[in-house]
Amino acid sequence: MKTIIYAHPDKNSFCNSILQKVIQKLNDKNYDYKIINLIEEKFNPVFSYEDHLVYKKKEVLKDDQVLKYQKILKESEELIFIFPIYWFQTPAIVKGFLDRVFTEDFAFGQSWLDNIKKVTFITTAALETKEEIANDFGNPIDVNLFGVLKYCGINNNFWLHFGGIGHGEKDKGFYDNILKEVYKKI
Ligand SMILES: Cc1cc2nc3c(=O)[nH]c(=O)nc-3n(C[C@H](O)[C@H](O)[C@H](O)COP(=O)(O)O)c2cc1C
Repeated sequence: MKTIIYAHPDKNSFCNSILQKVIQKLNDKNYDYKIINLIEEKFNPVFSYEDHLVYKKKEVLKDDQVLKYQKILKESEELIFIFPIYWFQTPAIVKGFLDRVFTEDFAFGQSWLDNIKKVTFITTAALETKEEIANDFGNPIDVNLFGVLKYCGINNNFWLHFGGIGHGEKDKGFYDNILKEVYKKI
């Protein structure tokens, strides 16, 4: 199964157009997939006192939503993340997803996520190029997120970035070409 992890608050966003294109491709190919829509599903990204106690005592988590997401991850052979770049990195809700769902002895330690054979991050940003995102303040995906995934046993990771997605000032052809590329590469 493939799992899409999506984090954008607006149905009119370009990220949502990318999501729809990915869904279209997965349907065309008859792939089995699930969508985790972090904002719509009101995922709480805050690593709480309860989370901390569980972490310290190595106990089993009691949060139903985290447990549900962990089950989905264990059933997945591929993950596709879709989110906008916020402040040269992932939105907080995606970071919180890693903090709270990729727990010890689930994602690393006694148990790995080596069932996941491929991860693709699809990101958008206002700045035009990937280099502008990756160089000025560190590299949010190739270094940081790929590093996290490798720590969890996932080594086949890709970053598909689309810049110049600000306030809809580009012509239709610009957006259509991106969506064609997404369809081809996913
Ligand atoms: C809180 C916040 C932080 C942002 N930080 C950046 C940034 O660091 N670099 C950048 O190029 N764009 C930044 N942006 C712009 C978004 O990445 C851009 O609007 C989005 O990718 C456009 O895609 P959308 O139509 O799906 O929203 C930021 C936007 C917000 C709301």
